[in-house]
Amino acid sequence: MYEFFLIVHSWLRWITLLLAVVVIFKSYAGWLGGGSYSKGDNGMSAGFVGTLHLQLLIGLVLYVFLSPLTQAAFQDFGGAMKDSMLRYWAVEHIFVMIVGITIAQIGRTKAKKAAEDVKKFKTQAIFFTIAIVLMLSRIPFHEAGRLFRF
Ligand code: HEM
Repeated sequence: MYEFFLIVHSWLRWITLLLAVVVIFKSYAGWLGGGSYSKGDNGMSAGFVGTLHLQLLIGLVLYVFLSPLTQAAFQDFGGAMKDSMLRYWAVEHIFVMIVGITIAQIGRTKAKKAAEDVKKFKTQAIFFTIAIVLMLSRIPFHEAGRLFRF
């Protein structure tokens, strides 16, 4: 069960990042170039934020029930704070991800409510950029074994 959730969480990261690149690129292009906000743009934005919610859900299952790393940290939380690896998984990853996902969701909601298309693109560009920069800072790219998990 742990392996399954970890593999899905790991691979979904690439889908999220791919969608992020496309949505953010299109948002800047629409904002600075003044395009019209199409159904496709809305769909891509919904897809991006949707994968984040899925990551949140899978991540929480890993965090609370399955991950041996968080289970170890919960045994002695004070001690885990002194271990950089346990602290990363018990605190840093979840905290920064929750902040990033919240910012992305706020951006999506504000973009949907905006009256003009340029405003929709601008809102998405700003909020999604901040969200993705935060999330990229807490994805463990430095660990080769976690890049493409089978
Ligand atoms: C609040 C939301 C999230 C929570 C609670 C969460 C929690 C976790 C936990 C517990 C692990 C497993 C550590 C282990 O046992 O090895 C993990 C791994 C990971 N998470 Fe998250 N996560 C969240 C959001 C995200 C998001 C949004 C992304 C990327 C878009 C992401 C990318 C990853 C990656 C790449 C790994 C390593 C997977 C691997 O080892 O192959 N997480 N996360």
